[in-house]
Amino acid sequence: MSTAAALAHDACSVEDIPLGEGRAVTLDGRRIAIFRAGGGWYALDAACPHRGGPLADGIVCDRAVICPLHDRRFDLQSGSALTTGNAVAAHAVEVRGARVFVTLAAAERGAA
Ligand code: FES
Repeated sequence: MSTAAALAHDACSVEDIPLGEGRAVTLDGRRIAIFRAGGGWYALDAACPHRGGPLADGIVCDRAVICPLHDRRFDLQSGSALTTGNAVAAHAVEVRGARVFVTLAAAERGAA
């Protein structure tokens, strides 16, 4: 029996990502950056909306990540831009035992 609920993807193990770091994975054809911050687990689209910088390689501080290319900062929970420019899509993360599951947000085009 199928369900209309969004699918939670088994993305990685909790041991794959040290505290304070991120890792990029591919889920359903989308590149997603998963972060293990002090306040919990978060997931954003992996490419910075500015010039495609690898957000998984950014510096994680508090509940934000800083893009390694030009230092734009994004809220890990919402994906909103904390400095300037466009937001990045944020995805729901749930830890079940030793596994990290990500439910992808709907892909949007032309959003503000
Ligand atoms: S590519 Fe991320 S700030 Fe420029």
